[in-house]
Amino acid sequence: MKLKLLLVASTLIAALAQGQKLPGDNVVIPSANGGKWGPVKFTHQQHLAFSDCVYCHHTNKGLTGQNFATVKVPLCAECHARAEGDAKNPKSKDGTELWAKEAYHINCIECHKGEITKIPKDVGMSAIKKQGAGPGKCAECHEVK
Ligand code: HEC
Ligand code: HEC
Ligand code: HEC
Ligand code: HEC
Repeated sequence: MKLKLLLVASTLIAALAQGQKLPGDNVVIPSANGGKWGPVKFTHQQHLAFSDCVYCHHTNKGLTGQNFATVKVPLCAECHARAEGDAKNPKSKDGTELWAKEAYHINCIECHKGEITKIPKDVGMSAIKKQGAGPGKCAECHEVK
C-alpha cells in the first residue's frame, strides 16, 4: 500500500517536474512593497555564464542545466519573503534579516560590484565565474514608478 502510494507520488512529481521550464531572458522579478522602486528585469540565460546555478539557487545542491527538469527549483521568495519582519525569514551570520530585498541585493549587487563576501552556506567561491560587471544603480535594475 505504502509502496503504491509512493509510486503514485513520485510519478506525479516527475510529471510536474517535466513541466518546469528554464526561464529565458525575460524574467520579471515582482516587487511588493517597493513604492517608487518597481519590478526588476532579469536575463536568466545570459547569467548562466557568470556563475554555477547553485550560487543563486543555493538550496538546490548539485543543480545544473542538465538535471533541473528532475528537481523542483523554488523561487527565492518562497524562503526570503517579500515582507520585512516575516518571522520565517532566514538570518545571515551577522544577524541581518534576509527578506527578499536583502537576499536579492546581496546576490545581484555584490556580484555586479565585484565585491562578493556574503556567500550562502555550502557554496564555494569557485561557483563564481565572473564578477565586477553589471548594473549597480537603482534605476538600472528597478522600473521607476
Ligand atoms: C542589480 C539589480 C538591483 C539594483 C542595482 C538595486 N536593486 Fe533593489 N531589488 C532588486 C531585486 C531583484 C529585488 C527583489 C524584487 C523586488 O522586490 O523588486 C529588489 C528589491 C528592492 C526593494 C524591495 C521591494 C519590495 O517589493 O519590497 C527595494 C525597496 C529596493 N530594491 C530598492 C532599491 C534601491 C533604493 C536601490 C538603489 C540604492 C536598488 N534597489 C538597487 C535588484 C536591484
Ligand atoms: C544569477 C543568479 C541565477 C543563476 C546563475 C541561475 N538562476 Fe535560475 N533563477 C534565478 C532567478 C532570480 C529566478 C527567478 C525566480 C524568482 O523570482 O525567484 C530563477 C528562476 C529559475 C527557474 C524557474 C523557477 C520557477 O518556479 O519558475 C528555474 C527552473 C531555474 N531558475 C533553474 C536554473 C538552472 C538550472 C540554472 C543553472 C543552469 C540557473 N537557474 C541559474 C537566478 C539564477
Ligand atoms: C529553500 C529556502 C531558500 C531558497 C529557495 C533560497 N534561499 Fe537564500 N537562504 C536561505 C537560508 C536558510 C539562508 C541562510 C543560511 C545560508 O547562508 O545558507 C539563505 C542565505 C542566502 C544568502 C546569503 C546571505 C548572507 O548574508 O550570508 C543569499 C545572498 C541568498 N540566500 C540569496 C538567495 C537567492 C538569490 C535565492 C533565489 C535564487 C535564494 N536565496 C533562495 C534559504 C533559501
Ligand atoms: C555571479 C555574478 C552575477 C550575479 C549573481 C548577478 N549578475 Fe547580473 N550581471 C553579471 C554580469 C557579469 C553582467 C554583465 C554582462 C555583460 O555586460 O556582459 C550582468 C548584467 C546584468 C544586467 C544587464 C543585462 C544586459 O542585458 O546588459 C542586469 C539587468 C542584471 N545583470 C541583473 C541582475 C539581477 C536582477 C541579479 C540578481 C537576481 C543579477 N543580475 C545577479 C553578473 C551577475
